[in-house]
Amino acid sequence: MYSKYPITIVKGKGALLWDKEGKEYIDFMGGYGVSIIGHCHPRVVNAIKEQCEKLITCHGSLYNDKRAEFLEKIVNITPKTLEKAFLCNSGAESVECALKLALKYTGKTEVVAMKRGYHGKTLGALSATWNMKYRKPFRQVIHPNVKFVPFGDAEALRETVSNNTAAVIVEPIQGEGGVNIPPNGYLTEVQEICREKDVLLIVDEIQTGLGRTGKLWACQHWKVEPDVMCLAKGIAGGVPMGVTLARREVMDSLKVGEHTSTFGGNPLACAAASATIDVLISEKLPERAAELGNFFIEELRGLQDEFKVVRDVRGLGLMVGLESRFDVRNILMKALDYGLILLYAGRNVLRFLPPLVISREQIQRGITVLRELLTEEEKARKI
Ligand SMILES: Cc1ncc(COP(=O)(O)O)c(C=O)c1O
Repeated sequence: MYSKYPITIVKGKGALLWDKEGKEYIDFMGGYGVSIIGHCHPRVVNAIKEQCEKLITCHGSLYNDKRAEFLEKIVNITPKTLEKAFLCNSGAESVECALKLALKYTGKTEVVAMKRGYHGKTLGALSATWNMKYRKPFRQVIHPNVKFVPFGDAEALRETVSNNTAAVIVEPIQGEGGVNIPPNGYLTEVQEICREKDVLLIVDEIQTGLGRTGKLWACQHWKVEPDVMCLAKGIAGGVPMGVTLARREVMDSLKVGEHTSTFGGNPLACAAASATIDVLISEKLPERAAELGNFFIEELRGLQDEFKVVRDVRGLGLMVGLESRFDVRNILMKALDYGLILLYAGRNVLRFLPPLVISREQIQRGITVLRELLTEEEKARKI
């Protein structure tokens, strides 16, 4: 359940969406980061069309050509430590698998997660999600042995990891928590602490992965090689899919039947996901995100210079945040009138997760709207 924007979207193409009245919007929200390769990319559309005429479902107890093809592709493009993958249907499910793997492989009972971190809302994933707003109603039933440390503070992590710690779970850049970029060297140190203390490192690339930050995987910015990695969102071009990748011996610690998913690895999602990977690589979308991200951030910094209401601009690639001194809900709703769909992260951060196929001209149009909205905001607040 989400609080709703008062529009009904019926069509999408690239970085554009249309509502039922035919009004066009530039999509700076990107479906919370799902539409990495843009809406209805023709190669994904064709892959889905072709596959749905052949075979839509195939249970995981039977082998399937499309699943095999996708597994080979995903293992080939993810960090080389990760040799095996479990397929499921969402981000939270991917995190569930990662946490079960850590607990089973190590036989230990604790997990260390990050303050302001977000990993989903199923009971296991919720245990590692920091925000009390989400945890409090379920505090009696979530996993009790998760400790939270400040994101960016390696010393706090070193002190908190104990002999009972199975894993550390971290987003390379925190999305939901406000687009928080770690201090340089932090993630490398997190990896060192995990290695030193014999603890698994779970990297949640659900929002940062697939080129979003200007490299295929955000952990590559800091040369981090996780033991377990979580993917979802845009991996299948918009078709639901989650993936948990792990070192061979870690994945093998789960015995047959200990973790399963009826829909996981279905041929339709796998065909869409293989086409998505082909698009990402052949259209050089990570490189594009790096270049356009620099442009986007520069433009936003221009707005920061112009408007007092803007407190900070931060980002990497096309994962960008603009922190306001005030609540951004008003801006979000007014943007719709101007044909721009925005997203927030917390009360006062605008989070930009546009499709990586967005054009410079579309970014520029969005910036012009933002300038208008910030002018109105300062006028309304008498700044
Ligand atoms: C970093 C991260 N992990 C996990 C999730 C949960 O994914 P889902 O909503 O598909 O369960 C999200 C979703 O926003 C996310 O950003």
